[in-house]
Amino acid sequence: MFKEIQEKKKVISVTGLGYVGLPLALAFAKKFKVIGFDISKERVELMRKNIDPSKELESSDFDGADIKFTYDAKDLAEAHFHIIGVPTDIDSHKVPNLTPLKKASESVGKILKKGDYVIYESTVYPGCTEEDCVPILEKLSGLKMGEDFKVGYSPERINPGDKARPLTKILKIVSGCDEESLEEIASVYESIIEAGIYKAPTIKVAEAAKIIENTQRDLNISLMNELSMIFDLMDIDTKEVLKAAGTKWNFLKFFPGLVGGHCIGVDPYYLVHKSKKIGYDPQVILSGRRINDQMPAFIAKRLIQMLIQRGKNPQETKVLVKGITFKEDVADIRNSKVVDLIRELMEFSINVHVVDPHASPNEVAHEYKLTMVDKISDDYDAVIVAVAHKEYQELSNEYFKSITNEKPIIMDLKGIYNFSDNGLVYWRL
Ligand SMILES: NC(=O)c1ccc[n+]([C@@H]2O[C@H](COP(=O)([O-])OP(=O)(O)OC[C@H]3O[C@@H](n4cnc5c(N)ncnc54)[C@H](O)[C@@H]3O)[C@@H](O)[C@H]2O)c1
Repeated sequence: MFKEIQEKKKVISVTGLGYVGLPLALAFAKKFKVIGFDISKERVELMRKNIDPSKELESSDFDGADIKFTYDAKDLAEAHFHIIGVPTDIDSHKVPNLTPLKKASESVGKILKKGDYVIYESTVYPGCTEEDCVPILEKLSGLKMGEDFKVGYSPERINPGDKARPLTKILKIVSGCDEESLEEIASVYESIIEAGIYKAPTIKVAEAAKIIENTQRDLNISLMNELSMIFDLMDIDTKEVLKAAGTKWNFLKFFPGLVGGHCIGVDPYYLVHKSKKIGYDPQVILSGRRINDQMPAFIAKRLIQMLIQRGKNPQETKVLVKGITFKEDVADIRNSKVVDLIRELMEFSINVHVVDPHASPNEVAHEYKLTMVDKISDDYDAVIVAVAHKEYQELSNEYFKSITNEKPIIMDLKGIYNFSDNGLVYWRL
């Protein structure tokens, strides 16, 4: 397979051209022939104009790429090495939503030929590739996995907004359904991943490795959030505690904060789902999830308390929230916990203004029915810096004073600043 891909006799397809799929498709297209398929016609049309709809890549990243962008699944028939990187989110009951993954498997299954490879990159629970996806491929193609076509799994570790660690600079785990496929898949990925690859012994190991990377991060942050709530009651600055504790060689450096987005706050539920299905009710993972999910309510409650302590009636206050994306320096607003915080504040009838230099006001309005303000006022009772965008890093004490009225409260959720209490009340997690 790899040799023929190298000679451009065989073509790679990438299904799902989002944060994961597009950089991958372009990296392969610098060396090989690629078909990029996405169901969104609108997104495909942007990509045809060298525009990344996810706003992560520059138009120069499309230069020299041998790629055909399509929204017609039939075009996948021209390819032989199919990569699937569609979303794996959860529904309102926090249960995995496998619909995109199953639909993408159907698209590939319909055109699958003898000798083809199918590699899944979407984050899933261990067993999902072989138990949920392969049967669809087999049913629609009439072919048998292992004998007629091969399957693999290679989780993505890309970190949106992190320009220092692009796809090619992050070591990649690969796996295959047998020894031969593992070697072929490894060779294909090795040709673009400068950081090298790690060959996992089975598909399930590779799936489980990805899911625990994010589960571990979620849990570590939840511990910091719990500590932050305890220390807040004791009037101890958590950031200072972490700085002091961090001087020990084996103290892990995590910080409190809102855990949103479509990975860290979602992936643990995939593991929980599978675990429950096979008879084990996870305790630690779910309690971490609960702590992280309750942070917006905790922060809102603290703000209300502080406003009242300063003689202000919450119903008559105006609060500015700076940052609504799920993390710093990205445009992605999916599953943003800042939105939960805004809603909590609105429940208390607070007049909330929201700004964000990265988020699209249209998307925010469409997704959350929230209107962002164009111009900020100069009479806020409190400002919440919710996201550590680079634009917010250098804001001074004077800046916050200039946009607030008397006795203002500055809530620094990411611990960016270190203001002393001169004219404003500074609070951080
Ligand atoms: N974004 C990240 O940082 C990141 C990191 C590691 C892993 N992942 C995982 O990678 C997977 C993809 O995530 P993403 O962030 O790239 O998602 P995304 O939402 O940015 O992109 C998904 C793309 O898939 C398309 N799509 C949806 N259903 C489709 C279908 N049936 N056929 C073809 N195209 C379809 C959408 O139109 C969209 O363009 C998820 O499983 C995610 O958990 C994401």
